[in-house]
Amino acid sequence: MTPFPLLRLPLLAIEQVLCMMSPFELIDLSLTSSRGKSIVTNVGPRFEGFMVPGESLSIMVFEVGRRAYTKTSDESKDDEVAYGFEAESEYFKHLEDPIEGWKKWCKYLKEVLRCQFYEVTFDLNNRGMGFREIVDWVKVQQDDFDNMTIESKEECDDDLKYVIETFPTVSELNISVSHYKEGFKMEIPGNLSSLTIRNANFIDNEQFLRLNAQINVFEEHILTNEDIHQFVRGWMSMEAHVGLKTLMLRMENQERFNGMLTGIPFEQITDVEILERHQNRLQGDDMFRITRCDGKRCFVYILCRSYLCMEVC
Ligand SMILES: *[C@@H]1O[C@H](CO)[C@@H](O)[C@H](O)[C@H]1NC(C)=O
Ligand SMILES: *[C@@H]1O[C@H](CO)[C@@H](O)[C@H](O)[C@H]1NC(C)=O
Ligand SMILES: *[C@@H]1O[C@H](CO)[C@@H](O)[C@H](O)[C@H]1NC(C)=O
Repeated sequence: MTPFPLLRLPLLAIEQVLCMMSPFELIDLSLTSSRGKSIVTNVGPRFEGFMVPGESLSIMVFEVGRRAYTKTSDESKDDEVAYGFEAESEYFKHLEDPIEGWKKWCKYLKEVLRCQFYEVTFDLNNRGMGFREIVDWVKVQQDDFDNMTIESKEECDDDLKYVIETFPTVSELNISVSHYKEGFKMEIPGNLSSLTIRNANFIDNEQFLRLNAQINVFEEHILTNEDIHQFVRGWMSMEAHVGLKTLMLRMENQERFNGMLTGIPFEQITDVEILERHQNRLQGDDMFRITRCDGKRCFVYILCRSYLCMEVC
């Protein structure tokens, strides 16, 4: 077979061929020669990615994002293709060494494929001794991310704080941690655009009233109806949460909703757009509207029989 003289084609043609290649193929091409590498870097498509330090790196073509390519330390996924998660399809390749190999691959994707990582997940399950080192290493490569998720089924209090203190300026923060030590306390960065917390039991009313994320979603929490009342009144008088867009609190039982808005002036209304958006998952289609002192309005409703939702219009 005659080799295809890719690198001798006109630049425009090379560009088109490169756009049809997968990142794995582009990497292979970049490793053939320094000219191959420079062509991939300068003419190849641009990528954006998602990293799980010590576990995996996923990238997709910038702004097209339908196919993701993932290097993962999970050997059972080698050569697997998965359909319909965040991307339409995701192609996997095994990554040999989850620490040094991961770092090398991360650097290569940034340098040669000019990949931008906007999103990071720190998996604190089964983390080893080198965990903080890899957090520090990531920080040196990249000072900030748009979205950060921290997940753990185990208690990981100090490392959780370490990660949050290392990346204090993310805009969307998702803390998916199930357990904390008794008496655990942690500050949440200010000015987040979105804050999702799976177990927010460490947040007491005083801290809750100080939070200023635009979107707040708590699965588990210790807030009483009185605390929520205080939050709503703080919003109405503009003493707190002036930038609030959404509050979603999961309630442990439906009785919690009874009398929740007692004493707060509201109108009962129906907003077709919200009803349609939630495809009739609103309890009894009941919806209320409350008004802030400056005239701004907020819908209050119960979603899926379990979430109290406040949505500022
Ligand atoms: C960050 O997460 C939000 C959902 O919470 C998503 O809409 C957005 O696309 C994510 N941004 C990036 C860069 O992945
Ligand atoms: C938060 O992270 C958990 C665990 O990774 C995930 O299941 C959930 O969808 C995430 N939520 C948001 C809003 O990103
Ligand atoms: C949040 O933003 C405001 C206004 O931009 C700023 O004054 C304040 O210091 C910020 N707070 C935090 C905790 O970053």
